[in-house]
Amino acid sequence: MKDILTTDRIAVCCVGLGRHMLRSLLPNIFASADFEVVAGVDPDPQARALLAERLPSATLYADIGTALAEGRFDLVVVASDPDVHYSVSSAALAAGKHVFVEKPPALDSHGCAALIDQARQAQSTLFVGTMWRYGRARSILDTWVAERDLRVERMDIQAFFPEVLVRPGWEDSRLTTAFTDMFIHPIDYAVSYLGDAEVSRQDMQQVDNRVHAQIVLAAPGGLRADLSLSSGSSLYGSRITTYYSDGTVAQLGDLSQLEVFPPDTWSGTPGTLRDRPGLSWEQGPLYRGYGRIGYAEEFEALAQVMRGTHLKPTVGPVSVTMSILETCLEAAG
Ligand SMILES: NC(=O)c1ccc[n+]([C@@H]2O[C@H](COP(=O)([O-])OP(=O)(O)OC[C@H]3O[C@@H](n4cnc5c(N)ncnc54)[C@H](O)[C@@H]3O)[C@@H](O)[C@H]2O)c1
Repeated sequence: MKDILTTDRIAVCCVGLGRHMLRSLLPNIFASADFEVVAGVDPDPQARALLAERLPSATLYADIGTALAEGRFDLVVVASDPDVHYSVSSAALAAGKHVFVEKPPALDSHGCAALIDQARQAQSTLFVGTMWRYGRARSILDTWVAERDLRVERMDIQAFFPEVLVRPGWEDSRLTTAFTDMFIHPIDYAVSYLGDAEVSRQDMQQVDNRVHAQIVLAAPGGLRADLSLSSGSSLYGSRITTYYSDGTVAQLGDLSQLEVFPPDTWSGTPGTLRDRPGLSWEQGPLYRGYGRIGYAEEFEALAQVMRGTHLKPTVGPVSVTMSILETCLEAAG
C-alpha cells in the first residue's frame, strides 16, 4: 500500500465543488479526525468561491492537472460530473494519489475495471461512494448475524426515488440516469451481499417522467435478490428484507430502522404478530435526513483501508454492480 504523506491526517483535494460535495461529503470529511481538506478543484469560479468561503486555507485550482502538479495531498475525492469521473480518477492514480470517487465511477463497466486495474498496479486505494453499503444499521445487522453464523439466503429490496433530472454531464436518457444516479445504490447493496451476482430477470417500464424496474439477481449458492425500484414519486425511501439460513428475517427501513426476527420468538409463542423483534435499533438524531446515512461511515472505512488497518476489498464488487447496470440497460435497448 502506498504511503500517506502526512502522519496524522490524510490530506485531501476535493474535485467537483458542487451540491453533493458541499452539502453531503464535506461536512462528513470535516467531522472526521482522519482527514484534512487542503485543496479544491472546479472549473467554475463560483463553485471555487463557495469552498473558499467555508475553508479559506484551501488552495483552489481550476483543473486537476495543475492541482496534481502543484498540490501536496494524499487523497483525491471526486464528486464532479459522471462523464469526467474516469479521467480525473485515472489522472490522480497516475500521479500516485489515493482516490475516492462518487458513483458512477465511470460511464461503463470497462472504465470501472480499468480504474481498478490501475489502482491495483499503483498500489493505491480506490474507493467508490456507494454509501448504502456503509450505514450503521447495516453494520449492526451484520454483527448480529455474524455472531450467530447465519448466511443470507434471499433479499427483497424496494426503493423509491424522486424524479430523475436529465442534466449536463449525465446521459440524455432518463432510463440510463435513473440507473446510474439512483438504482445503482440498491443494486450495489444487493451485490455487497450476493457477490458475483448476475441478472436472471428484468422488466422495465418508463411512463412519462417515471421509471420502474423489477430485477431478479442470482448468485452462486442459490442466493437471490428481488429488487423493485421506482423513480418519479415524492416518496424517497427504501425497505430491505433479508432472509437468513436459520429462518431469521431482518427488516431495514430507510437504511436507519432495523428490526430482526429470529425463528425463536421472545415469548415462546409462534409468529411475531404478538411478539417483539430479537433486535430493534433506530438511528439517532445525529443524521438529519435520509441522504446523510452512510457518508460518515464510508469515510471511516476509507481511512481504515488507507491506513492499512482494514483490508476488505473495496472496489471489486462495484464492478459487478456496474455490469448489472449495463445488462439491464442493454436489455431495455
Ligand atoms: N452517493 C450519493 O448518494 C450521491 C448523492 C448525490 C450526488 N452524488 C454524486 O456526486 C456527483 C456530483 O453531483 P452534484 O449533485 O454535486 O452535481 P453538481 O452539478 O452540483 O456538481 C458537479 C461539480 O463538478 C464540477 N466539474 C465539472 N467538470 C469538472 C472537472 N473536469 N473537474 C473538476 N470539477 C468539475 C462542476 O463545475 C460542478 O461544480 C455525481 O457524480 C453524483 O452521482 C452522489
